[in-house]
Amino acid sequence: MQSLINKYGKWALITGASSGIGAEFALQLAALNFNLVLVARRKEKLEQLSAELIAKFNIETLVISLDLSKPDFLETIQQQTNHLDIGLLINNAGFAITGSFLNDNLENQLSLLDVNCKAPLILSHYFGNRMLSSGSGGIINIASTAAFLPLPFWSNYAASKAYLLSFSEGIWHELKNKGIDVLAVCPGPTQTEFADTAKVNLGGMTAKAVVDCSLKNIGKNSSVIVGFENQFSTFFLRFFSRNLLIKFGAIFTKKIAVN
Ligand SMILES: NC(=O)c1ccc[n+]([C@@H]2O[C@H](COP(=O)([O-])OP(=O)(O)OC[C@H]3O[C@@H](n4cnc5c(N)ncnc54)[C@H](OP(=O)(O)O)[C@@H]3O)[C@@H](O)[C@H]2O)c1
Repeated sequence: MQSLINKYGKWALITGASSGIGAEFALQLAALNFNLVLVARRKEKLEQLSAELIAKFNIETLVISLDLSKPDFLETIQQQTNHLDIGLLINNAGFAITGSFLNDNLENQLSLLDVNCKAPLILSHYFGNRMLSSGSGGIINIASTAAFLPLPFWSNYAASKAYLLSFSEGIWHELKNKGIDVLAVCPGPTQTEFADTAKVNLGGMTAKAVVDCSLKNIGKNSSVIVGFENQFSTFFLRFFSRNLLIKFGAIFTKKIAVN
């Protein structure tokens, strides 16, 4: 098996690297000797992670602290990464908003779309074209098992992940004969800061399990559901009517709600 670094080159860019699954990607890719561009809003967390990775693995890093919901984020990333040959892109940053759609302000809901959908689209387009010119690359988009059914009180989040899964599978086909691998990863509940941000009780698998599964499947599949339990439950969802799926979704979001 060709090693990831031989296939994609020395540099990877990870969004949402300041915690959870993104930080675990940073750790595992650094252990494979990748140099890393670490992107998120919390500069201190990124700098701390960067220092740890440099000390432990002797890699090069670049910290870019920015908000992916802002319209000018690509310009900043372009300027700072122009000189780097980024062959592996991990679109991982994302968050959920819990609660009644109409109770939340529209700006908040739109920023979820910016971070969960628009940023991966923009970065896949920009770095995808650079990968096309260099003849190889990999794009990993972190979707969710929430992509497989509507989730009342998480309506926008579930829809954003359905978008990311479908988009990734589409471009997987478009790019598969052009040297660019695309993978949509669908974790179920995972123990990260995600649940606190979304104000839910989740538990679930480790970030390590999600990243192990992602790195094992890039270049082999168009999408992957992480963990047997999640594969099993999402498989059976296809046998139910859309109305029943909505009911299941509402039961799930009620179960995880913080009372
Ligand atoms: N945990 C789960 O149960 C679960 C399940 C399925 C899928 N996922 C998906 O996994 C991905 C990673 O989430 P996680 O579980 O690792 O949660 P997390 O620990 O909360 O990490 C989310 C990351 O996204 C970054 N981020 C959020 N908003 C941002 C913005 N506006 N601009 C730039 N960066 C932003 C955060 O960094 P800053 O706050 O520093 O900006 C953080 O690094 C998400 O796409 C999530 O939807 C999670």
